[in-house]
Amino acid sequence: MNLKLNFSARKLICFCLFTILILAGNTDRTFAQQTSSCISCHLEEVDDDHTELVESFMGGVHQKRGISCVDCHGGDASAEDMDDAMDPDAGYNGAPERKDIPEFCARCHADPGYMRGFNPNLSTDQYSKYLISGHGRLLKKSGDKKVAVCTSCHGVHGILASNDPLSPTFTLNVPYTCANCHSDSVYMAGRDIPVTQLQEYESSVHGQALLQKGDRAAPSCAGCHGSHEARRPEPSGVANTCAQCHNYVRELFVSSPHKAAHEKHGYPECEVCHGNHAIVKPTDDLLYSSSAGICADCHENDSDGMRAAKEMRSSIDFLKAHIDSARNVIELVRFYGMDTDDPEYQIRQAKNKLVQSRALIHTFSPEKVAAVTQEGSLLAQEANAFGQDLLKQYGFRRKGFIFSVIVILALSFLLTIKIRSLNNNGDSIQID
Ligand code: HEC
Ligand code: HEC
Ligand code: HEC
Ligand code: HEC
Ligand code: HEC
Ligand code: HEC
Ligand code: HEC
Ligand code: HEC
Ligand code: HEC
Repeated sequence: MNLKLNFSARKLICFCLFTILILAGNTDRTFAQQTSSCISCHLEEVDDDHTELVESFMGGVHQKRGISCVDCHGGDASAEDMDDAMDPDAGYNGAPERKDIPEFCARCHADPGYMRGFNPNLSTDQYSKYLISGHGRLLKKSGDKKVAVCTSCHGVHGILASNDPLSPTFTLNVPYTCANCHSDSVYMAGRDIPVTQLQEYESSVHGQALLQKGDRAAPSCAGCHGSHEARRPEPSGVANTCAQCHNYVRELFVSSPHKAAHEKHGYPECEVCHGNHAIVKPTDDLLYSSSAGICADCHENDSDGMRAAKEMRSSIDFLKAHIDSARNVIELVRFYGMDTDDPEYQIRQAKNKLVQSRALIHTFSPEKVAAVTQEGSLLAQEANAFGQDLLKQYGFRRKGFIFSVIVILALSFLLTIKIRSLNNNGDSIQID
């Protein structure tokens, strides 16, 4: 009884799916799918796993583009009988082994001629990139079965386009897709790499921006490692990774004396000071403070390096103090209801200089930093002076106001006395 119900429920699903198919697009290719014996038998007649498999296929990008079971697996989709349909003589090649999946997908995806017929904008370099990835190299070198293959990141039958928010390769989902393996200590056991990347990334300035604020300018794992070419960056290549987005800082760094020092010692350029997965928002204390500061890791207390750190910090503090004091004055001006557009604009410009000077610390040149902080300080001082002027004018106007109030009061007092004395004399006042 139960079985029967199940069976008719499946028929219903089958019917609905076909109707959707017909409505979705009546191309020859989708018509081929409708009449596919592969679909009807796997949907209804095998087991729940196969039903699920076909259902997920129906929602996927391949089905939408008219790719059917036989395009991937071969066989004869018009034969009702299983052995005929899945006959190697009819081209049936079965389900690929895990190690063969990259080539299985590459058959189409690395064929520009074929892919252009569907979507000329879709790149066809995934396979060639995969071969140079940490995953691809281990798969080819030692047949490591646990590395990611195409289906580990994309799924198998229900593959979605990467711009679909439900896809495991949608930017916001990528960290969790990678972490399926990379945070699983059992899966990764016996290997010489940590399983903390996701945890650290979630707490980082990048992770917070992407996962909390949905800011897709911030990198997911793939933003730094690449997706298909994902591998551990060489120390000398880390900065290029960061430079994809922080190009200005990188240029400053390259022009600095640290560039040669890093090359000589093999330090990864940005990582030495900022880390990789757990990058936090840097503070002025990272530059220099009496108790902390990153420069002290390598530079002795009275070395040129530490002197540079101290000087750059004090230039930045100098500018911050000027901005703060200008801001206080302007607050007061605004409180009295006066127009503050001009000085506020100057303060904004001074703040830009502050941002610029914090980037300029990557020149490791106190002079270059001071040049910019001085420009900023001048702007803040001008805003300050402007504000002081407005306050003085306000004071002057207020004094004038009090003076005129006193004069008016005095006059009206005299007038009252005058009126009384007129009344006492019995005169009347004519009002017309
Ligand atoms: C009449 C039913 C029927 C038809 C028609 C049919 N299959 Fe199957 N297919 C099965 C069953 C049952 C299995 C599971 C066999 C097993 O586990 O040995 C299977 C297994 C498979 C597998 C997995 C093989 C593996 O190695 O695990 C693939 C791939 C497959 N079918 C593809 C196709 C394709 C492609 C078509 C159409 C050309 C097709 N099938 C037509 C019933 C069918
Ligand atoms: C885009 C290519 C592609 C298409 C289209 C495709 N498959 Fe597959 N199929 C695969 C790959 C790759 C595997 C191996 C997956 C694995 O080992 O995890 C697979 C595995 C299978 C398996 C065996 C694995 C299992 O879960 O039991 C079956 C059965 C199967 N496919 C049936 C089908 C049917 C039926 C269709 C059409 C509805 C279909 N496939 C369409 C790529 C495809
Ligand atoms: C380690 C995870 C991972 C593996 C392995 C992987 N992909 Fe991708 N793939 C992604 C991500 C993430 C995207 C989203 C766009 C991007 O970041 O490049 C993507 C995008 C794509 C796209 C969309 C086009 C594009 O370039 O944007 C295609 C097609 C694709 N992958 C095919 C493949 C094929 C074929 C393989 C196997 C040779 C494969 N992928 C292996 C993660 C992976
Ligand atoms: C028979 C050829 C064929 C095979 C084999 C194949 N694909 Fe595709 N794939 C396509 C076509 C065609 C499209 C649709 C391209 C389009 O129109 O944008 C596509 C689309 C995709 C997309 C969506 C790209 C996007 O727009 O973001 C991904 C991801 C993808 N395939 C991954 C895979 C993976 C992984 C495999 C192996 C399991 C695979 N494909 C096997 C032909 C194929
Ligand atoms: C199916 C599981 C799996 C998935 C999913 C996966 N990886 Fe991997 N990855 C591995 C394994 C296993 C290794 C090999 C580790 C080793 O032995 O060095 C590896 C290696 C790497 C390496 C090289 C590490 C080294 O020491 O050279 C990087 C980088 C990497 N993966 C990044 C990623 C990124 C980024 C993603 C997501 C886009 C991802 N992986 C998805 C399993 C996976
Ligand atoms: C801001 C850039 C950046 C992001 C984002 C990032 N990584 Fe990394 N990752 C690196 C750098 C740089 C290294 C090189 C570490 C070294 O060798 O010193 C690295 C190393 C690795 C390694 C090698 C083992 C290790 O931890 O040293 C793996 C695996 C890895 N990353 C996976 C991931 C995964 C998974 C994510 C997402 C959760 C991720 N990475 C996000 C920059 C990044
Ligand atoms: C895909 C682009 C991208 C890559 C690659 C990238 N970043 Fe970022 N980074 C960003 C964005 C966007 C932000 C701003 C996040 C926010 O909203 O706070 C940011 C913020 C930062 C910050 C904090 C800046 C601040 O003022 O708060 C530091 C430090 C940083 N990144 C360093 C690095 C380093 C080091 C690397 C390489 C290991 C790197 N980034 C790789 C895009 C990127
Ligand atoms: C020698 C240590 C050191 C190295 C190497 C280094 N930084 Fe920094 N970085 C700092 C310090 C210290 C600060 C904080 C400055 C401040 O806020 O006063 C900082 C601040 C930043 C900021 C935030 C300031 C801004 O411009 O918005 C970014 C982004 C940044 N670094 C990226 C990078 C990148 C990318 C690299 C590699 C090209 C790199 N850093 C190399 C020490 C370093
Ligand atoms: C990972 C180690 C390391 C860190 C951290 C580091 N430096 Fe350096 N720095 C060096 C090395 C090595 C040299 C080259 C020294 C040499 O060739 O004698 C150098 C050179 C310099 C120089 C050129 C003058 C000189 O001593 O040759 C300045 C200035 C400098 N560093 C400033 C800084 C500042 C400021 C910080 C912190 C923001 C910092 N450094 C952080 C390793 C480091």
